[in-house]
Amino acid sequence: MAEHIRRTTMVNPLARGIGNYSINLRAGAAFGGYRLIKPLGAGGEGEVWKTLDAQGKQTILKIDKRPVISLNKPVETSALEVIAAAGGHQAIVGMLGAGIEAGSHFRALEYIEGHDLLEELSQVEEINGFGLSLRRSLEVLRHATDGLRFIHRLGLIHRDVKMENIMISKDGEVKIIDLGLASNFPVVSDVGTVVYFSPERLQGEAIGPQADIFSLGVVFYTMLTREHPFATRGLEEQDSMTLVRMLKNKISFGIYSFPKPIRSLIKGMLAHSPEKRFRTCEEIIQAVDLASASLPKEESRWERFFRKTAWRVLMFFDRIRYKLPSWLSFSQKQ
Ligand SMILES: Nc1ncnc2c1ncn2[C@@H]1O[C@H](COP(=O)(O)OP(=O)(O)O)[C@@H](O)[C@H]1O
Ligand SMILES: [Mg+2]
Repeated sequence: MAEHIRRTTMVNPLARGIGNYSINLRAGAAFGGYRLIKPLGAGGEGEVWKTLDAQGKQTILKIDKRPVISLNKPVETSALEVIAAAGGHQAIVGMLGAGIEAGSHFRALEYIEGHDLLEELSQVEEINGFGLSLRRSLEVLRHATDGLRFIHRLGLIHRDVKMENIMISKDGEVKIIDLGLASNFPVVSDVGTVVYFSPERLQGEAIGPQADIFSLGVVFYTMLTREHPFATRGLEEQDSMTLVRMLKNKISFGIYSFPKPIRSLIKGMLAHSPEKRFRTCEEIIQAVDLASASLPKEESRWERFFRKTAWRVLMFFDRIRYKLPSWLSFSQKQ
């Protein structure tokens, strides 16, 4: 499996080393009116717990472990609050409340029973060893874009759009989670997950909604192929080679195995310069609808097989294209 789609690590220098304050959270304990059931994650800023509320309903608590006194207003609270105040959106995790317990700020969120996009992909992998179907990828993309459009219209950007932060509920609803890095824009930002960064973001320029659009493009391509759009092979070169290719905007040759409307979508989201990239989520939605309308209902096994084979062949050439210069320079040195 490509390195990119192993779970990625968030780079968040701001979160590092702020206070050594620690609260001891354990399963079964009460916290802010909720009962802690099971930890789901612990990042730089805090912990995520599955909990039960006073009525026994499943909920999520995101507990910020930095002491409240060292915080200006936590960003996530404001982003989620802005979203809630605007009526919420079915494709964005809902906030149920917030509070302070033992000097720590926490937010209670709606519990999404389901899995994230990486898990969806790994289930497909077991069945046929390629990405999600074209239809399914378009469907997920459309819902996620709808949620993102809502966020952008509120004057916010998510800043950490990635496979792990898009969940699918057991009822099939797509939900954007983890608004911990959401902020107003334009903003100069080095927090987030580097392999999802747009070129202008990698270069330290101020970013806006188009940075999220680029990240969503990486998600879309990954859904379709299980590979990063700029990776030669994903693995050990991922950090250096992938980033160099992202800066040069060398999308893998594999893109040519897709029907034209899908290719235009990928290119529109992953365009190097913001001038050439989709400007708004609205534009993506229009392109998704066009692509969906032009595709047959569902691919036959043969069509999928041919597409997969074309992809493999193209990726073989893609690898050669990027290996060749280093092979040649190596043999010249000999
Ligand atoms: N509302 C939710 N419902 C169900 N699971 C959630 C929810 N929010 C987060 N999780 C789970 O907890 C993990 C970590 O939460 P997340 O908000 O992404 O925080 P971070 O990535 O900053 O640690 C997610 O990857 C997901 O598996
Ligand atoms: Mg996350």
